[in-house]
Amino acid sequence: MGILFKDNPDLIVGARRGSPLAVGYGHNENYLGSDSYALKSMTNKISYLEDGEICLLTKDNAEFYNSKGKKINKKILTLSEDSESYEKGDFKTFMQKEIFEQPDTTKSCINEYVDHLRDDINIYNLPWDIQKIDSITLIGCGTAYHACMIAKYWLEELTSLDVVIDIASEFRYKTNKFKKNNLYIFVSQSGETADTFAALELCKKNKMKTLSIVNVVESSIARTSDFVLPIHCGAEIGVASTKAFTGQMLVLYILTLKISFLKKNINKKLFEQKIKELKKLPKLIKTTLSVESDIENISNTFANAKGSMFLGRGFAYPIAMEGALKLKELCYVHAEGYPAGEMKHGPLALIEEGIPVVVLAPRDKYYEKTLSNMQEVISRGAKVLLISNKSKDEISSENVWKTIEVEKTSDELLPFLLTLPLQILAFHSAKNKGYDIDKPRNLAKSVTVE
Ligand code: F6R
Repeated sequence: MGILFKDNPDLIVGARRGSPLAVGYGHNENYLGSDSYALKSMTNKISYLEDGEICLLTKDNAEFYNSKGKKINKKILTLSEDSESYEKGDFKTFMQKEIFEQPDTTKSCINEYVDHLRDDINIYNLPWDIQKIDSITLIGCGTAYHACMIAKYWLEELTSLDVVIDIASEFRYKTNKFKKNNLYIFVSQSGETADTFAALELCKKNKMKTLSIVNVVESSIARTSDFVLPIHCGAEIGVASTKAFTGQMLVLYILTLKISFLKKNINKKLFEQKIKELKKLPKLIKTTLSVESDIENISNTFANAKGSMFLGRGFAYPIAMEGALKLKELCYVHAEGYPAGEMKHGPLALIEEGIPVVVLAPRDKYYEKTLSNMQEVISRGAKVLLISNKSKDEISSENVWKTIEVEKTSDELLPFLLTLPLQILAFHSAKNKGYDIDKPRNLAKSVTVE
């Protein structure tokens, strides 16, 4: 809460309970904001209030009191300089800039975590014995939850761990069985999402092991969890998450590889091979981004549709969910992400002449099955945009409206490439409509209230 006084215009009183609150220090002015994002364009000197604390701000003074009314001193943090992230450069929107930054942001993240000399992963100082952890719960909201969904596939395929995923707003209120050998992982770009933070606090209260994957390292979630793995993608300004999503997936994949190796689920040779493959990813992202013009040409169809569907199996299923979320949040068009194999259990009834359907069918073990689901929607009149990956074999399916092919990579890394055309599709569909791409209606960049 921030309180202004009509008769004392030089005073602001701030008080925190639950949602975060930050004080910024300037020259002859001080600020109160919901988090460091709100203040970063004005100052890089920040203090955070804890629950129950109060601050009194004037233009040249900041005083802090704890919940008992006792005056306290606050640590002043200096935020990292990242001025480039706050400018659009040659782009008209932050979202488009952030989509096209992904070759660089994934490269920086890989450089932070991968030891290039030894083909190892630099995560050494986990505060628990990984051999004693036998299950993982991944928690997030929205796009971050989709990153958790993909990580479940990776962890189940590459480790012996039991893996559960939960939406933070559900986790915080349901009855949970807290187990001491379980690791709780919180995924959040902003690190301030109220539901994710409340879920973390609940785990802390129950003395659980907590790890967070965040973009904002000064955030409440980062400061509260036992261990933090930053995603190193620079500030994300567009409300729709793009480069932070690939960053979240990347750190989750890197962590999966490390755990898998430490637990001896994969041997050294395979571990090193997967790291080598991962190092090629930024270049593949760069090449795949050249699908932009093809997608731009068809975005009109999605922008003007009554509704649309996004289908996939395996790793492609969470990406279908993410693609649908991007389209609805930016273009205000109803879009459903669904596991392709579930269509005949209900949603097939939605398919009518001309409805645009995105089918994600990379050439993985689900390929044939997904193509047959695709034929089921085509035969009912759907206009299918098929997204697959390049291969020497032609796609033999008939009556596909449009086909886009991403670069070739290992099946595990396909989610990184499949997500790019969907980000571009949402962007161009919203542009077609003339909507505010960086600030879609009714949404906020960091959801600091429940
Ligand atoms: C969608 C989007 C949201 C966020 C969600 C969680 O593009 O950005 O769904 O992913 O609000 O936000 P964070 O990651 O900050 O916890």
